[in-house]
Amino acid sequence: MRRLIPAVVVIPLMLFGCATLDERAPPVDDLFLSEAKVSASEAARLREGRTIYVNFCGDCHSPRKVDNISKGDWKEHLPKMFKKAELYPEEIELVTNYIKTAAPINRTLIQKRP
Ligand code: HEC
Repeated sequence: MRRLIPAVVVIPLMLFGCATLDERAPPVDDLFLSEAKVSASEAARLREGRTIYVNFCGDCHSPRKVDNISKGDWKEHLPKMFKKAELYPEEIELVTNYIKTAAPINRTLIQKRP
């Protein structure tokens, strides 16, 4: 029985827990910009948002895969998380903008990225 526990823990982690950082939080690179179709100034804001996401939202748990953050999470968890991460209002705006832009294109980015 004891020897079963690691398998029970490790297999779901292998299946669900091993997305790379770039799969969880896609970098704002040329591919991203070609999918998101945004201006250069918007690209700079998105990069700041990603930096906040990776550094602050990956502090206690690994950063959630952006497209796995659900509508329910936005209501229930995200307001709490912004407090936990001690973000300033401008940072909340940047990170929100990043997540909302990245989430709908992330699946395509993962497929297209070499
Ligand atoms: C101080 C630690 C801490 C920080 C910083 C933090 N989280 Fe969390 N997060 C938690 C804990 C603990 C939970 C588990 C349940 C709860 O408290 O809601 C959680 C749960 C969540 C959930 C709920 C669903 C799930 O996957 O468990 C989401 C989504 C989430 N965090 C996203 C974020 C985002 C986005 C940020 C950055 C703004 C962030 N977190 C920053 C500790 C943190």
